[in-house]
Amino acid sequence: MRIDILTVVPELLESPFNHSIIKRAKEKKLAEIHIHNIRDFSEDKHKKVDDYAFSGGAGMVMTIQPVESAILHLTQQRKYDHIIYTSPDGKRLNQQMANGLSIAKNIIILCGHYKGIDQRIREHLITQEISIGDYVLTGGELAAAVICDAIVRLIPGVLSDETSALTDSFQDDLLAPPVYTRPSEYKGWKVPDILLSGNSKKIEEWQMEQALERTKKLRPDLLNDDF
Ligand code: ADE
Repeated sequence: MRIDILTVVPELLESPFNHSIIKRAKEKKLAEIHIHNIRDFSEDKHKKVDDYAFSGGAGMVMTIQPVESAILHLTQQRKYDHIIYTSPDGKRLNQQMANGLSIAKNIIILCGHYKGIDQRIREHLITQEISIGDYVLTGGELAAAVICDAIVRLIPGVLSDETSALTDSFQDDLLAPPVYTRPSEYKGWKVPDILLSGNSKKIEEWQMEQALERTKKLRPDLLNDDF
């Protein structure tokens, strides 16, 4: 998978992709992540990328030209499955969406900008808008990092245990069951006996019960949600 991220603050995205699982995905050549500074595509002599809103009011709006040039620069080289814009008014990211995006070959993510971007970019260039939750971030960079993390870990071969993404919370609309490690007892805090029984069938049943219990208690909405 190739992901191209367009941003006016590339510095914000330097670290998230250079550690842990995403780093491993890049090393194994399963994912490529390219960060582009939208400013580099500006034809303005001062490399401006935003301007005052016609409606007046506070806050600058990202202009069309640098964004369109950046997107054209990429789409002329390869076909993209999705051109995503990160925005609080987009569709809220969930596991099903991440699963769908993880089978794409090429994705562009345009990071949103303080007061927004010219509406015509959204209408003519963007194929989908994604929000990571009902709150407003300063820009879309952190949202882009979240989206990349959620999808890259699902690419086959990225996680060392092939099944572990399938047993994540939300994969079957249930939260994951609790997990424990050694020691089996710490200051009187005990691991449930069943996990020490060695009976894998019983353990699986227990895990399913726990997943259901936790979901009912902590996220009952998941049991009624159609997504
Ligand atoms: N940009 C600002 N807030 C955002 C959010 N909640 N999700 C995605 N992009 C955003």
